[in-house]
Amino acid sequence: MSRFVRFLLPAAVAASAIAWFPFTDSAQEPSRGQEPARQQEPHGEHAEDEGPLHDAMETLDRGMKGMRRTITDPEKTAENMERLHGMQAAALTAVSLCPEPFNPLSDTEKIVWRIGYERKMLTVIDGLLQIELALVEGRHDEAREFYSQLTGLKKEGHDTYTPPEEE
Ligand code: HEM
Repeated sequence: MSRFVRFLLPAAVAASAIAWFPFTDSAQEPSRGQEPARQQEPHGEHAEDEGPLHDAMETLDRGMKGMRRTITDPEKTAENMERLHGMQAAALTAVSLCPEPFNPLSDTEKIVWRIGYERKMLTVIDGLLQIELALVEGRHDEAREFYSQLTGLKKEGHDTYTPPEEE
């Protein structure tokens, strides 16, 4: 019996460890909330589909879609203010995440590129604050005007700062 324990038990433990090992590999991957901080990646395949800027843009997009039909409804003001707070935080994050230029630029041109981006994003934040102010003061029609201006800003920002369509 003691022989069995001395020889077979370690073998059984080793065998079960081998069987278990492949499944433990995933335990080494970062779990939710523990992901390493990601930098805005240079443009390349799929680079535009992930990263903190993309996440911020998705938040802006969800917010815009959520407000589209509800912005003039006073009963939806609280809901929309909550949306706006999330969007403001997202846009604030996005300010410091200017994408790399798509073409080689001089040092001065790079600064112009970055400042253009940051000002546009700050204008988005201002627009979101204008909407919030209009909603809280009961100026729902004005809120809709600011909303339309945001869609214009989105187009301007994307025309310059999103990667050109691939041929
Ligand atoms: C309310 C305003 C905006 C909304 C709702 C919005 C929405 C979005 C969405 C949905 C995407 C992802 C597109 C896709 O993957 O197909 C995106 C990407 C992007 N947007 Fe915006 N956007 C807004 C304003 C802006 C502005 C003002 C700028 C620049 C100043 C900008 C720069 C970018 C860039 C660089 C990307 C590509 C980055 C990435 O997806 O990783 N956006 N935006």
